[in-house]
Order: sequence, then C-alpha cells, then structure tokens
Amino acid sequence: MRLDKYLSHATGASRSQVHHWLRHKRILVNGVLCTQAAHPLTEPSEVLLDGEAVTLPQDGYWMLHKPQGVVCANTDGHYPTVIDLVSSHLAPHHLQIAGRLDVDTTGLVLITTDGRWNHQITAPKKHCQKIYRVQLSQPLNPEHFQQLNEGIHLHGEKKPCLAAEAFALNTHHYLLAIYEGKYHQVKRMMAALNNHVVNLHRIAIGGVQLSTLAPGQFRPLLPSEITQLANKPQCLKLAEVAQHL
Ligand code: URA
Repeated sequence: MRLDKYLSHATGASRSQVHHWLRHKRILVNGVLCTQAAHPLTEPSEVLLDGEAVTLPQDGYWMLHKPQGVVCANTDGHYPTVIDLVSSHLAPHHLQIAGRLDVDTTGLVLITTDGRWNHQITAPKKHCQKIYRVQLSQPLNPEHFQQLNEGIHLHGEKKPCLAAEAFALNTHHYLLAIYEGKYHQVKRMMAALNNHVVNLHRIAIGGVQLSTLAPGQFRPLLPSEITQLANKPQCLKLAEVAQHL
C-alpha cells in the first residue's frame, strides 16, 4: 500500500491533509523521514506522525440477516441499504458486501472491511457454496433435478452454470446449493426450467449458516468462521441442513 493511502486509511484524514504532513516532514517510516506520498509499504512498517504511532484499524467481519426491501449497496436513492442497517454501530467507511442479494431476497449477507477476504469468498473461481431456501410457483420434477445437476444454461450466457443441487422440503419449497454468484442466478435458473421463484432466502455461505439471527439483526463473525470462509469454505449436505430448519 502507498504511504499516503495508509496514512489516510489509518487516520481518516483526507489525502491533501496527508500530503501536508509529508511536505512538512512530520512522517517517519521505520525511523527514516519520508516525504514521498507514493512510498510503498510492502511489509509491516512502523509509521510515526509527530512521533506517534499510526496503525491501520483492525478489519471487521459481520453477518447480517437482510430483510425484504433492503438493497445490497453502499448508498441508494430509494431503498434503505444493508450499510444503513449496520452503520449506527459500525463506521460505514470501507465496508464491503461479500456477495449481494436482490432487494426482495432475504437472508445471509456478509459484510467486511477486508477486501482480500471478500475476494476469497466471492471470486468466481473459488466456487464457494451458497444455499438458498426457494419457494417455487411449480413443483420440480425428476428431470429438473437432473438438469440442475448437469448445469443449467442461462439465457444470454455462453457457458452453462456449474452443477447445482436441489433438495425437496415439500412440493413448492426446496433447498438449492449453487457454486457461483451470477446476476439473479437462482431466478434465472428457475426461469430456464419454466418455473418462477416466489420467495428466496439465503441460509448459508461456505458452510457458515444464518441460523437464528432475526431479520435486520447482525453480529460479528467468530474467528473460526472468518478463517473457514477464507481458507476452507465448507460444502454442506442439503439433507443435513434440512433436518435443522
Ligand atoms: N439468485 C437470485 O436470483 N437472487 C438473489 O438475490 C440471489 C441469488
């Protein structure tokens, strides 16, 4: 990270304020006076402003139960956002949403300040499992289950989706596990099967489950959940998830 970015991120000061400090020789990096805004901090360094240590804030990681009518965006002119829901408790700067849900979809949303962690979960190549509870207008038949397993071809996409799994809870309610996060993916998959999603709720990402968190509530992730999601995301068995609903 560049020195000016580091100083700005660590203190909340504007870039011009930071450049003022640098010009006035108020910054030491590892004991050496530094006036270069672009100076790279490649390894953990001691940065001092007027002799006081300047450290980056610790990264934060939360899960939120997104209610209906709330958008996964940092700002929106029309709807409340997931950031509005958490920002009375968390400083909204640098908050990122790790995998978005549609405005009418409810359930598990991960929020973090850690861009690398976010990437680990959301990068398409990671194939992180997302489990949804889906209410459909029509029952699925055995051929639909097979098509989901083989990879549905979405309208307008070159490649088919990765194999997905479905588990029937009853005639119109299913658990669905997918391993990508394409735009409106579940709704488009069901449209490709001539079906329609009536209700969509995300219950797990990479093995971490929403569990009993109430709509609109959020909580910090446990250290074990943070490392699991970044390093060893789990794939849950839908039959087992169904037993604990
Ligand atoms: N798939 C959808 O169609 N919508 C969502 O919100 C999430 C997955």
